[in-house]
Amino acid sequence: MPILDLSVDTLLTTTRAVRKRLDLARPVELEVIRECLELALQAPTASNRQGWHFVVVTDPEPRHALATIYRKGAQQYRELILPELQKQAAASEQEAKRLARRLDSGQYLIDHLHEVPVHVIPCIEGRTEHQPIVAQAACWGSIMPATWSFILAARSRALGSTLTSFHLFFEQEAAELLGIPYEEVMQAGLIPVAYTVGTDFKPAIRKPLESVVHWDRW
Ligand SMILES: Cc1cc2nc3c(=O)[nH]c(=O)nc-3n(C[C@H](O)[C@H](O)[C@H](O)COP(=O)(O)O)c2cc1C
Repeated sequence: MPILDLSVDTLLTTTRAVRKRLDLARPVELEVIRECLELALQAPTASNRQGWHFVVVTDPEPRHALATIYRKGAQQYRELILPELQKQAAASEQEAKRLARRLDSGQYLIDHLHEVPVHVIPCIEGRTEHQPIVAQAACWGSIMPATWSFILAARSRALGSTLTSFHLFFEQEAAELLGIPYEEVMQAGLIPVAYTVGTDFKPAIRKPLESVVHWDRW
């Protein structure tokens, strides 16, 4: 049962990427994870295939190993992706400050991932490498709605999380660690889950709608 009395709109606008406010000392009951997953299974999938799987990792040893893989992935991100983001952000002082804050928060998660009590890895049957875009959309679109539903259900139960992807730089290594059949099943992310310190979160600052909406045609 949800324990926070949030309206649907408040839930949708205050489900933030939580890193520094994860309560690393408080255990998370498996029953509440199960409840959130049950709700996630109401999400749509292409052709109603339901090829989804969720690996819930609570054992400290694989959590440590996942955190090590994640850390290596973060290094790849810093080398391959971050320079371009920094170049773009340099155009505005506000953007540069926002990026710096996100990196600081991101670094906290890099440093503490092994301490987060639950890691949830959403997976989908099939691999998108070399697939046409229609098949790629069907595949990713059959795991991301459920993944976001899980995160929303968690938020309504005072649990915080962040959808992360750094460990996917080394997806196969994580698959071997967890016994996921890599050739047939793709991991879609890693969601660290913990109770939050306080439950008040604010709507984020986003690009204005008018800059991204296209009425009738682009
Ligand atoms: C596909 C995807 C991958 C992401 N990967 C990571 C990640 O590896 N590590 C991380 O700390 N955050 C990751 N994030 C979280 C984003 O940084 C976060 O959603 C964004 O900063 C917006 O946060 P906000 O909703 O709290 O404003 C990812 C988000 C998405 C949607």
